[in-house]
Amino acid sequence: MLNVESLTAGYGNSQILFGMGFEARQGQVISLVGRNGMGKTTTIRTLMGMLPARAGRISLAGASLNKLAPHAVARLGVGLVPEGRRIFGSLTVQENLVATAHGRRIGDGENWSLDRVYQLFPRLQERRKQSARTLSGGEQQMLALGRALMTHPRVLVLDEATEGLAPLIRKEIWSCLQALKSQGLTILVIDKNLTEMAGLIDVHHIVEKGRVVWKGSPAELASRPDLAQRYLGI
Ligand SMILES: Nc1ncnc2c1ncn2[C@@H]1O[C@H](COP(=O)(O)OP(=O)(O)OP(=O)(O)O)[C@@H](O)[C@H]1O
Ligand SMILES: [Mg+2]
Repeated sequence: MLNVESLTAGYGNSQILFGMGFEARQGQVISLVGRNGMGKTTTIRTLMGMLPARAGRISLAGASLNKLAPHAVARLGVGLVPEGRRIFGSLTVQENLVATAHGRRIGDGENWSLDRVYQLFPRLQERRKQSARTLSGGEQQMLALGRALMTHPRVLVLDEATEGLAPLIRKEIWSCLQALKSQGLTILVIDKNLTEMAGLIDVHHIVEKGRVVWKGSPAELASRPDLAQRYLGI
């Protein structure tokens, strides 16, 4: 479904990605994990067309995403929950959900509606007329997730979606992602809570200095404390 191959990218003179590569098959949940500053968010920015790829290939269900603008990448079916949420504080919950929604995207797959998002997050429905800045951190994260779903993604990308959230709220996010996975959605997760996401992830990818240095299942990773110590600092 999603293929990233030999990706090179950076900012000005500083190269950050050195041959980044991974794949997610349809319905799989994969992770990018690794220490701060290793290039996880830069990978997402390049994937979304916010940063040009200097070399390498990115494709979604066989269609190339290279050189596409962010709106075109979204339109083809990549839904992003960005680092730091980036919701519109002055808009209401409902306005946030419809502001970036677009019509049925190109290609097959799941169609999302306000009703379906509210079914997944009843709390958003209760607060639909409230301005988004008055939501709690967890509710804002749910809104960011709902907003990404409103673009009818084939692949959902979450960059540190549980950062700064209380354990109980994180658990809610994980079970929501589990539900989306069981509906067949392909998901790419960047997160630091390895233990909590063990049941969700099919394949972990350890990122070190702009490339994947190891991949494997949560069980394989758990049996390699040396990897966790060397690459994850735990
Ligand atoms: N806009 C920018 N201009 C220049 N350098 C940048 C920019 N954004 C990020 N970098 C640098 O690129 C490197 C990789 O950053 P990136 O945000 O991709 O890391 P990350 O793996 O997502 O880290 P974290 O876990 O802290 O989110 C860092 O050294 C960072 O300082
Ligand atoms: Mg990051």
